[in-house]
Amino acid sequence: MKPILMSPGIYHLGANITNGDLFEGLWPIPNGVSLNSYLVKGEKTALIDLMRDWDDATLTLEKELKALNLDFSDIDYLVLNHMEPDHTGWMRGLLDRNPNIQMILTKKAADIAREFFGVTENLTIVKTGDTLDLGDDKVLHFVEIPNVHWPETMVTFEPVSGTLFSCDAFGSYGSLEGSVFDDQISEEKHDFFEVESLRYYANIVSSFSTFVLRAIDKLKDLEIKVIAPSHGLLWRENPKEIIERYRRYAEYAQGPAEPEITVIWGSMYGNTKEVLNSVVQGIRSEKVKVHVHQVPNEENSYILGSAWKSTGIVLGMPTYEYKMFPPMAHTLDLFNRKHVFHKKAFRFGSWGWSGGAQKECDTLTETLKWDFLDPVEWQGAASDEVKALAMERGKELAREVKSLCKG
Ligand code: FEO
Repeated sequence: MKPILMSPGIYHLGANITNGDLFEGLWPIPNGVSLNSYLVKGEKTALIDLMRDWDDATLTLEKELKALNLDFSDIDYLVLNHMEPDHTGWMRGLLDRNPNIQMILTKKAADIAREFFGVTENLTIVKTGDTLDLGDDKVLHFVEIPNVHWPETMVTFEPVSGTLFSCDAFGSYGSLEGSVFDDQISEEKHDFFEVESLRYYANIVSSFSTFVLRAIDKLKDLEIKVIAPSHGLLWRENPKEIIERYRRYAEYAQGPAEPEITVIWGSMYGNTKEVLNSVVQGIRSEKVKVHVHQVPNEENSYILGSAWKSTGIVLGMPTYEYKMFPPMAHTLDLFNRKHVFHKKAFRFGSWGWSGGAQKECDTLTETLKWDFLDPVEWQGAASDEVKALAMERGKELAREVKSLCKG
């Protein structure tokens, strides 16, 4: 990537990660992810958010600085909004290249810098309300937004340009290919980033939804003209769009979400699959949008995105050795970790010589606060009566979802 002038003295510097690695060692990013850093030049120069040495990201950063006739040794301050290593992994490397650089971070961030990277020197601790004057009318303001994403997180605001450097908040998966601003991309690309911001939210931020709402409230009095996150698109034409999108995503945790239903199913020999079509037909007959995902064939990253925005969930899986089909247990474990709460739901599935899936499903979903309709269970192959009942249950769920979303 090349440095992009955002406003006088403020530049976007960034690197795309496209080497096929998993994000957090866990989440697929087939369309890449950008690591966005920013340069703010007054009489002094600050770099906001760093990178890890990943897919040549730091080499890219060096080239971008060079294009501005700068080197790492020309940077006076490194502002570390958030300590997860995608933004800080190279902090020891940067210190080696520039032993005079001063790092600006919260108290909790300093603890993490010590434990992760052995860095205890050149640290300046800041808190909400503190500022850093770079001269030439560039003053950085710091606001702590704990748990968006880690407890030490803050954002940085530059009031003259109205730029909020928000780190993970308001971010998205997806590489930036030439265009970095919301007003430079097509409708199709906006659709792409909408899908990828939802998946990013559900994978990375969803457990902290209460804190997201608190952060949005805390930032409400800032005159934000540009949202500059550390992953994904920058918003200058319509920064409210991504703020409101994040507010909506955070509120899904309280239910209801969108008037949609996610069906997650797995089948050993096709007896549970036999009934899937009846359920989906039932939902569709009520004109409710349905997303269908198979486990273990599909990545949970995508299932999480779909489930997060759906008001209704259907689980279709057989009993497997007195418990549920194991991949579904894994998905429900993730739903617990990621707080996929307050859904309207039902379960269908077959059993062979003994039941047990329903009991485990009841246990694993207890903490999710889901409201279940009666399950549809049967031994062996499904009869026409079972299929008809499953279709009826699909309709019933769809009607409930519509009613909840109307209210
Ligand atoms: Fe992009 Fe939580 O780090």
